[in-house]
Amino acid sequence: MDSEKRLVAEAAAELVEDGMAVGLGTGSTVAFLIPALAARGFREIRCVATSPATEAAAREQGVAVEPFEGLDHLDIAIDGADQVSPEGWLIKGGGGALLREKIVAEAAGRFVVIVDSGKAVPKLTRALPLELRRFGLPACVRRLSAHGELTIRGWPPSPDGGLIADLEIDLAVPAPISAMLDADPGVAGHGLFEPRITSDVLIGRGTEVENRAISG
Ligand code: 5RP
Repeated sequence: MDSEKRLVAEAAAELVEDGMAVGLGTGSTVAFLIPALAARGFREIRCVATSPATEAAAREQGVAVEPFEGLDHLDIAIDGADQVSPEGWLIKGGGGALLREKIVAEAAGRFVVIVDSGKAVPKLTRALPLELRRFGLPACVRRLSAHGELTIRGWPPSPDGGLIADLEIDLAVPAPISAMLDADPGVAGHGLFEPRITSDVLIGRGTEVENRAISG
């Protein structure tokens, strides 16, 4: 799978042009994107990172990263995903960075998802990552537990102070679940990305890259 991850990351790096503002995702697939971007030797790109880990990796490899406070638009954002449905729904947040990943994706004119072939599934089946606010946490946990088993990860809080959790929930029809989570004030973010957000999914299949345009 690493060769498929590398392949799609390198294909995505080719979509970046000098002068662009670029959002960098998080995870093991994005780990291949950073050296591919560094190798292109851009002089003028401006990058924002979706996690401290990505920020550190980018800086180490000579890709300058700035806080996401001085840019109001990104030309492109590139990120991995945990699962992609045929309709273009994503589950993201396996690495716990889902809130910043969605903020970055929503700010991008083009959001490109890079995955190995194992992530393109006929239907979403993974537990759904969430970022929960600390204030009123027990009440939020109680509300969410009515929908499925909720597990709070034993991790430190996110850079924005939230707690990362996973909800075992039936995602056969994702839209109402997404709306329910958007409406819960205790949920700072959730890892369901609706098809509207994504422009293209690049899927590594052996030595080929399948480009699935998402028209949601
Ligand atoms: C992190 C994410 C990642 O993009 C997702 O978990 C995929 O990671 P990987 O490329 O390591 O399989 O959403 O929060």
